[in-house]
Amino acid sequence: MPQISLESLHRFHAYCARFPSEIVEAVLEKYTKPGESVLDLFCGSGTTLVASLAHQRKVVGADIDTLAGMLSEVKCTPHAPEQYAKWRQEFTAKLTKDFTELARAWQPSAPPRPGTVWALGPLALRIPSFPELNYWFPPQLTAALAAIAEAAHQCPEPHYERVALISLSAAIIAKWPNTLSYAMDIDHTRPHRRVQRFTLDQVLKTYLSRLDRSLACLGALYEVYRDAGVLDSLTEFSQVIYPHDAREPLPTVQDESQALVITSPPYFNAVDYPRAHRMSVCWMNGHTPTDLASRRNYIGLRHAAEFALESWLLAHAQVGRLLPTTILNHRSLGKKLCAFFADLETVLSHIWRVLRPGGHAVFVIANNVIKGVRIKSHTVLTALAKDLGFIAPRWQPDIRPCSPPCTLSSCLFGLGSASV
Ligand SMILES: C[S@@+](CC[C@H](N)C(=O)[O-])C[C@H]1O[C@@H](n2cnc3c(N)ncnc32)[C@H](O)[C@@H]1O
Repeated sequence: MPQISLESLHRFHAYCARFPSEIVEAVLEKYTKPGESVLDLFCGSGTTLVASLAHQRKVVGADIDTLAGMLSEVKCTPHAPEQYAKWRQEFTAKLTKDFTELARAWQPSAPPRPGTVWALGPLALRIPSFPELNYWFPPQLTAALAAIAEAAHQCPEPHYERVALISLSAAIIAKWPNTLSYAMDIDHTRPHRRVQRFTLDQVLKTYLSRLDRSLACLGALYEVYRDAGVLDSLTEFSQVIYPHDAREPLPTVQDESQALVITSPPYFNAVDYPRAHRMSVCWMNGHTPTDLASRRNYIGLRHAAEFALESWLLAHAQVGRLLPTTILNHRSLGKKLCAFFADLETVLSHIWRVLRPGGHAVFVIANNVIKGVRIKSHTVLTALAKDLGFIAPRWQPDIRPCSPPCTLSSCLFGLGSASV
């Protein structure tokens, strides 16, 4: 058992809609033994992956989102605190030098054009191809963030590059007034803008404090894995696949190989992940928002105009009865909601293939309130799972409302738990 709370080790990046480590730990304890394999098809920031490794389970995580994949990857392969300290020294020296050059070369200028290279003194800064860049970032902040991203890309090892970029993301997505952007709170579907002043010194200081927090958490994770005796097996024990659309089969996961699936799918359209992440992902690995998974492939957000609502409801009469007629009668909303559940049904069918006989699948999902009506997503999911042949066991994980209450209109409490 880990000696410290795993929850605190995730606090270096505020990924939207994380679920608490305690849920995963309770389910691991109940349904798996050390050495067995656990799958999370919507791994997000890696909560399942970290808990599984800390409890000596093997783990496969996948997500469609690049930021999720990078976060999960670094959490599965942390380095020793001394290695981070050494790298931090070199990286900080490089950043300090670049920021000095930047300050020397800086002259108030017109905003840079997205997708171009901005020459400032000796620095050649790649400006992300993000059309709304100049709405969310003033020119000097853009130059500073581009300098940090450039220094990250020059890191000799991909792990350090990712840690540097994730820390940049953490600094950008922090809530106002701590954010390195004009966005007040990117968790909202439509972030609001609040103009504030940024100096180069302040940007570097804010970034370095984020970097230090990342390194402290990752260094502590290394020690958790060392104490669990899995440090030497991390590459064999963990697999992170991204971008991966959970509606597609996972070719590297063998039939009947998983003891447990524990996952938290999107809560219908409650969180707009691509919209929330584009402000920080645009600085990463040369990715531009258009390189990333199309929002059409995000479950809950995808376009559903072509969805065959009537025939789906005909084939899923039980499930249809659980959905409010006011929403089904609202054509476009009814299609979107049923397309969401149809997508989760496809995911369940892939889970059926990879779960071993006697394995378990646990879904943690929040309810949505749509047009004033509460949709009990966990009940719908359980009905879909039963249609596929899963059996609901009597034991249910104890999921208390999250604290503080999540941004959704309900608290986290639903689940569909089923065993084959
Ligand atoms: C509720 S979050 C999971 C959070 C995760 N449990 C954690 O603790 O960080 C849902 C995740 O589903 C992912 N997602 C949305 N559509 C997807 C799809 N089609 N395939 C795979 N992942 C998807 C999102 O990127 C997001 O990371």
